[in-house]
Amino acid sequence: MLNNTKSIINFLIKNYIDEVSIAVDMTCGNGIDSKIILDNFNVKKLYCFDIQKEAIDNTKELLKSYFNYELILDNHKNFDKYVKENIDFVIYNLGYLPKGDKNITTNYLDVKDSLVKVLKKLNKKAVIFITFYPGHFFGKIESIEILKFLENLNQKEYIVLKFYFENQKNNPPFFVMVQKI
Ligand SMILES: C[S@@+](CC[C@H](N)C(=O)[O-])C[C@H]1O[C@@H](n2cnc3c(N)ncnc32)[C@H](O)[C@@H]1O
Repeated sequence: MLNNTKSIINFLIKNYIDEVSIAVDMTCGNGIDSKIILDNFNVKKLYCFDIQKEAIDNTKELLKSYFNYELILDNHKNFDKYVKENIDFVIYNLGYLPKGDKNITTNYLDVKDSLVKVLKKLNKKAVIFITFYPGHFFGKIESIEILKFLENLNQKEYIVLKFYFENQKNNPPFFVMVQKI
């Protein structure tokens, strides 16, 4: 059933996106999204970023049987120090580390900095998924600010699609897909 953000993103990964060579997980957390990327795409390289050592350690543990990835303990706004290639796939899962410190969350300024740079490094048909959690205060502000930025992208260059559960209560999570034309 397509009843939450993850199930729809997984559906699109399996059925809509192909030929991903260079991928970036901007918020690797416990590594679940990174594992989905490695299981579904034949990537040359996946770059995984997180600002918490705990998250990097958790991702390392989950990905121990894979080899074509790099874990980077740094803010995603600095991703371009490490990723020199053009990019085919990017994922952001915003908010805090599940089962981790809820005070350490993503913030729209860093997300925006990274988006401004990553949008210029996308190959044709490259996709970015961004999952938002507006159910908590900072997540709400983050979603408003990032949407303001995304809705102004040139429609001749990028498709910006928002996936929102209209009849779910209490500010449900939603995601945006950006695709380079
Ligand atoms: C919702 S979790 C990600 C879940 C993860 N994608 C998974 O599949 O398990 C958000 C993560 O973003 C990280 N984070 C927060 N600010 C960041 C930043 N500026 N750069 C990189 N990671 C950041 C947090 O430490 C946290 O682990």
